[in-house]
Amino acid sequence: MPNTEVKTIGVLTSGGDSPGMNAAIRAVVRRAIYNGMSVKGIKKGYQGLLNEEIEDMNRRSVSEIIGLGGTILGTARCMEFKTEEGIKKAAEICRKHGIDGVVVIGGDGSYRGAQKLSHEGINTVGLPGTIDLDIACTDYTIGFDTAINTAMSAIDKVRDTSSSHERCSIIEVMGRNAGYIALWCGVANGAEDILLPEKYDYNEQAIINHIIENRKVGKKHHIIINAEGIGHSTSMARRIEAATGMETRATILGYMQRGGSPTCKDRYYASIMGAMAADLLAQGKSNRVIGQKNGQFTDFDIDEALAMQKSIPEYEYEISKIL
Ligand code: ADP
Ligand code: F6P
Repeated sequence: MPNTEVKTIGVLTSGGDSPGMNAAIRAVVRRAIYNGMSVKGIKKGYQGLLNEEIEDMNRRSVSEIIGLGGTILGTARCMEFKTEEGIKKAAEICRKHGIDGVVVIGGDGSYRGAQKLSHEGINTVGLPGTIDLDIACTDYTIGFDTAINTAMSAIDKVRDTSSSHERCSIIEVMGRNAGYIALWCGVANGAEDILLPEKYDYNEQAIINHIIENRKVGKKHHIIINAEGIGHSTSMARRIEAATGMETRATILGYMQRGGSPTCKDRYYASIMGAMAADLLAQGKSNRVIGQKNGQFTDFDIDEALAMQKSIPEYEYEISKIL
């Protein structure tokens, strides 16, 4: 049974960081205080909870952070929390510090942790914090907008030099299991080929043929956006150069996509969602996650949210191939 009277909440960020997490922390803290609750910041995700890295927060603790990238609380991946003993120990530590509810800002993995913590009697609410956009219950995840804009600007720059040298460029963007960053940047940067982990058939010959056809009609460059989940951009570049005779370079954008000051959209969505998380805890709700579906901010049961599936929209994928 969830605690019906939540007086003190904790907030933590977990898994890969994403721009906008600070805006979410700020909103959680300020809305919770407005709702009459006390707030404790838990450092370094579930690892910090197990290490009791916990400190009181007030309205001033979150001043001047809305525009900062990263997370002021730090984040971590924590193997111990995946064990039954780890979860029980974490719940005990929450009780010791008077924490009745926890807001977890992270991805699917972090939600699984929050789900288990709620079974141990600590109320939990998850917020979607990941640049990958790969959380099924929501059309939006905190950090995606900043990441795609950072990647788009970088790809524009690579395109300039690629064009000057009449080269082929393979640009690898983040997304271990999800191709949303690749899809959006591929379309927004006018890439010739877009390789998504969910769709790629490993038919390199088709890419080679595409390059040869484009050269025949006078194209000066060939941009391939490759998702991290497919990877191997450098060896792919070598093979493509050998097969087409076109100089080919690989650029791996990497962690730059996870950093930087969040866009207006990330700050706004994170602020509304953060406030909603504090409201749900104030209402005695538990095992919930916040999402945005069909333009509405809403919340779901974590069990249901984790059972949902998400896939690359077929129409958008088809369009990405022909533009
Ligand atoms: P993300 O939240 O971005 O998906 P991870 O999958 O790395 O990132 O998960 C973040 C953390 O959440 C893990 O390091 C672990 O502490 C916790 N976690 C992940 N999966 C589980 C699980 N099945 N049970 C309990 N905790 C989990
Ligand atoms: O979850 C976001 C993400 O950036 C993925 O796209 C990437 O695969 C992963 O995190 C890398 O995380 P790390 O190297 O920090 O473990």
